[in-house]
Amino acid sequence: MSESKTHKVTLIPGDGIGPEVTQSVVRILEATGAKFEWERFAAGAEAFEIHGEYIPAALYESIERNRLALKGPVTTPIGGGFKSINVTLRKKFDLFANLRPIRNLPGLDTKYPGVDLVIVRENTEGEYVGLEHEVVPGVVESIKVITEKGSTRIARFAFEYARKHGRKKIMKLSDGLFLRCARQVAEEFPEVTYGEHLIDNTCMQLVMNPFQYDTLLLENLYGDIVSDLCAGLVGGLGLAPGANLGVNCAIFEAVHGSAPDIAGKDVANPTALLQSAILMLRYLDETAAADKVQKALETVYGERRSLTRDVGGTAGTTQFTEAVLAAMG
Ligand code: NAI
Repeated sequence: MSESKTHKVTLIPGDGIGPEVTQSVVRILEATGAKFEWERFAAGAEAFEIHGEYIPAALYESIERNRLALKGPVTTPIGGGFKSINVTLRKKFDLFANLRPIRNLPGLDTKYPGVDLVIVRENTEGEYVGLEHEVVPGVVESIKVITEKGSTRIARFAFEYARKHGRKKIMKLSDGLFLRCARQVAEEFPEVTYGEHLIDNTCMQLVMNPFQYDTLLLENLYGDIVSDLCAGLVGGLGLAPGANLGVNCAIFEAVHGSAPDIAGKDVANPTALLQSAILMLRYLDETAAADKVQKALETVYGERRSLTRDVGGTAGTTQFTEAVLAAMG
């Protein structure tokens, strides 16, 4: 794609800390030189108040048109049969691959310097299909769905990703059909070492020695849990980016949620969404813009003067944003 192309992006600020981190990231993206046209939409409780729908029809249509969205977190009320907006969007646009790179930033005093992991999480199946019913009062049955088609395509995605990005090793963490499909796909990629670990052991192994892993392929729920664990290895949820990828459609969003405990206080760390936006820039072939933001981010972390509280600093969201903008020159 040419540098002068204007990218139309559906923007979902979300709720909780979503609007704060999204505003920060949009400011930084606008300063890269890449051109964007934002189509902004509310989702979740806010959208329900305005439109009477959790995901307005116009939002669906916008993603359908643009095939690209940048999304802040949206709160999912617990209980009451409310279906997560995130899960709904991922299923609607068949964003079957959730890619979550986990790397250290400079300047952070973490327990594990030099972590370089990629989590590939299946994004549409497992416990998240939302099939549950009350068998008798007091007993709920929840169904986990794993299909051959879904398992094979996420395994193929992981191996193709590993081959394209020069990653050497895939460790698959699961059982049953998912495992059989991954083994079959592995045979097509002899240049990528393939191994299997059970999920409970892996959680322990990740804490003891994360360096033994390279690319982790997981089914949906395991991927969700292990992503948060891995975010903790490199400094916390304020840092970990993500991309929901399908065929010719993508939604970029951080691993973290809406963090209601710190919302509206100008203390949230926008780094996770900013790193998601860097993934988006690379997806759009805006390499120069992606490198510019990455370099500025690393400068700000390396200097340690304008870091947010979650990573040991005292700066607010705005001060951190200004520092990244200043580092971009
Ligand atoms: P959470 O990720 O919102 O927060 C967990 C902890 O991490 C909190 O202490 C929070 O303050 C901290 N944290 C998270 N992001 C941070 C940031 N950028 N900067 C500094 N600190 C940060 O997880 P929680 O509390 O379990 O979920 C809150 C809501 O978010 C729930 O309704 C959940 O369903 C929703 N959620 C939405 C997601 C999405 O929209 N993609 C993903 C995960 C959860």
